[in-house]
Parts: sequence; structure tokens; C-alpha cells
Amino acid sequence: MRTHRIALIPGDGIGAEVLPAATAVLHAAGRRHGFTLAYDSFDWSCERYLREGAMMPADGLERIRHHDAILLGAVGWPGVPDHVSLWGLLIPIRRTFRQYVNLRPITVLDGVPGPLRTATADVDLVVVRENVEGEYSEIGGRLNRGFPEEMAVQESVFTRAGVTRVVDYAFDLAARRRGVLTSATKSNGIIHTMPFWDEIVAERARLGVTWSQEHIDALAAKLVLHPERFDVIVASNLFGDILSDLAAAVAGGIGVAPAANLNPEREFPSMFEPVHGSAPDIAGTGVANPVGAIWSAAMMLDHLGHPEAGDEVRAAFRAVLAGTAIRTPDLGGRATTGEFTREVVQRLEPAGG
Ligand code: NAD
Ligand code: IPM
Ligand code: MN
Repeated sequence: MRTHRIALIPGDGIGAEVLPAATAVLHAAGRRHGFTLAYDSFDWSCERYLREGAMMPADGLERIRHHDAILLGAVGWPGVPDHVSLWGLLIPIRRTFRQYVNLRPITVLDGVPGPLRTATADVDLVVVRENVEGEYSEIGGRLNRGFPEEMAVQESVFTRAGVTRVVDYAFDLAARRRGVLTSATKSNGIIHTMPFWDEIVAERARLGVTWSQEHIDALAAKLVLHPERFDVIVASNLFGDILSDLAAAVAGGIGVAPAANLNPEREFPSMFEPVHGSAPDIAGTGVANPVGAIWSAAMMLDHLGHPEAGDEVRAAFRAVLAGTAIRTPDLGGRATTGEFTREVVQRLEPAGG
């Protein structure tokens, strides 16, 4: 039986509540398809930071670099500044393992109504977010703290190689989907980096994909008014971050949104995690929506070479949402994380077994 080694990082808050849901579903999928997942679990988190002074050990990345994939819950907790927790764990994983594509599919799920008057029935899009450079740069800092000259500076870094590879990924994906690509930009005179981004998008365009660019502000409005018009959206790190929460909310909620941080060349492990964070406001109450984590786990199965198993997992949670009233409170229901997960697992178990 094929075994995949997975590094499990539950992290903070509801991260530790939704990951068990993901592994329960993965276990059921493995039984159907004849593979097993062997987990190494790491307690890297804000709790660890408060105890030991670091989010992860000094050789943390070395310890997980040979795993087949990383499954992560969420990082960040009140009491530890976000820039400390995120630069201490999440961002180094994305960068060191060259996970330069952050793939975030957004699909309307039957039984999950969107919040808008706009019809959202046909929304099926993917945000391809640049994940290792751009606005999330280490260049800059805070100067003159406490003085009248106090300031904060951060330089965006866009490299030709970095933009080209993510844009190529997005064009490839669009060619395999409906052949429509939208590039999120802000080239109207203010920002130096975006005309550079636009030039590279234009250079990498290919036959068979209809593409256009939209200013980020107008694009945000169009995503609300006509989300069904979009297929693949390629965006810089910060623009992609914002657009993926926006599009997920339009489609029904950020609790259901998945993400894959991909190293397409497979030099390093890729990382799968829900789009949402640690949700301190509901953590500990047992009602976190596990769909984002379960869907992320399905994307991990695709990546590990089990796309049929991934499809079955997606079909299973979709069937629960479409065919029953069992759902967590964020979707208007009363189910707990565990109750919803059991329904999904049941649909993956062999009849009578
Ligand atoms: P958040 O995603 O944690 O929460 C935003 C809102 O959505 C909250 O009201 C929360 O209850 C709700 N929500 C989120 N996920 C849910 C789920 N699965 N089910 C039901 N409701 C859900 O965002 P935030 O409040 O901006 O951030 C909280 C912490 O998480 C911060 O420390 C932040 O830096 C961190 N964060 C981490 C990641 C990550 O690890 N990838 C992503 C986003 C935020
Ligand atoms: C996400 C998160 C992170 C990001 C934060 C927590 C650094 O919002 O994964 O979308 O901006 O990348
Ligand atoms: Mn985000």
C-alpha cells in the first residue's frame, strides 16, 4: 500500500479544530483508494512561542523538507503580534519551499447561499496568488520609534522570474479551464511595480486564452457585481490575499475556502491550508466550519496523485451541504465541527462498512 508522509501543523485557534476533520476525511478516502497517510505532528504555534520564544525550532524547516506535503491549520493568536507569528512560521514555509503559487478555488456550493442579491449560481473561479514576493517583502522597517520623525517603510519586490512563473502557471490553468484570464493590477500611474507586472502578463499571453487586466479597485467591485464572469484571476501577493477572501465571501463564506501553496517543480513539499485564520472569536466552541480544511485536504490528494480520491472528498462535502440541513453556524446551521465531519466521512465509507 502506498504511504505518503505528511507534516501536520495544526497551529493556533480553530486550526487545531479543523485539522482533525481533514485527517478523518483523508483516512476514509485512503481506505477507499488503497493509500495511507503517515503523519508527523508539530506543535509549532503561538503557544510554543510563548513557552519557548520561537514559533518553530531553529531546524524546523529542515525537519519537514522531505515530507510529501504539509497540512496546516492556521497561525496567529492574540498576545503574539501577527508579524512575529507569521514571519516566524507561515511565511518562511511558503518562501523557503518556493511555494510561489497560492491556488484558491472559489465555487458556489449547492445549499450555501451567497450574501448578495446578485445571482451567484454560476460562480466558479480560481485566484492564482503570487505567494513569495511582491508587497510581502522583508525590505524595510520602522524607524525613529516614538519620535516625531517616526515612519514605517516597506519596499515591494517584483522580479521578472517571480512574476513570469506565476503568470505562466495562471495561463496554463486558464487554458485547461474556460480559457479566460484576468490580471489584477493597479497600473494607473501610481505604483511602479504594476506596469512591470502588466508587461510580463502581456508577454506571456498565449493563444487560446482570452485575457484582460483590471485595476484592483474596479475588479473588487466587479467580483461583487458579476462574479460569474471570472475564470482565472492572477494577482500579486497582497491583491490575491484580499481578492480571495472577497470572492470566497461572495460565494458563501470564508469558512469554506481552501488553498494550496504549491511548489510546482516539486523541489520541496507543497502546503495545504484553509484560507481562513485562527478565528479567536469562535475558537474553543467546537463550531468552526471544517469545509475549508477538508477541501484543502482534497487539493492535497490531487497533488499526491489521487485526483479521484480528491473528487470523491469534494463530492462528499458537497452532498452534505446540498442534501441535508447539517452545517455549522457560519452557514446558518447548528452542527458542530465533529457532526458535520461525521456526515462527510459516512459518505466515503463503503456501503454497510
Ligand atoms: P479569521 O479568518 O481568523 O476570522 C475572520 C472571521 O471569520 C471571524 O469572525 C471568524 O470567526 C470567521 N471564520 C473564519 N474561519 C471560520 C470557520 N472555519 N468557520 C466559521 N467561521 C470562521 O481572520 P482574522 O480574524 O483576521 O485573523 C485571526 C488570526 O488568524 C490573526 O492572528 C491572523 O493573522 C491569523 N490568520 C492566519 C491565516 C493563516 O494561517 N493562513 C489566515 C488568516 C488569518
Ligand atoms: C492568508 C493569510 C496570510 C496572508 C496572513 C495571515 C499572513 O491572510 O493565508 O491568506 O496574508 O498570506
Ligand atoms: Mn488572507
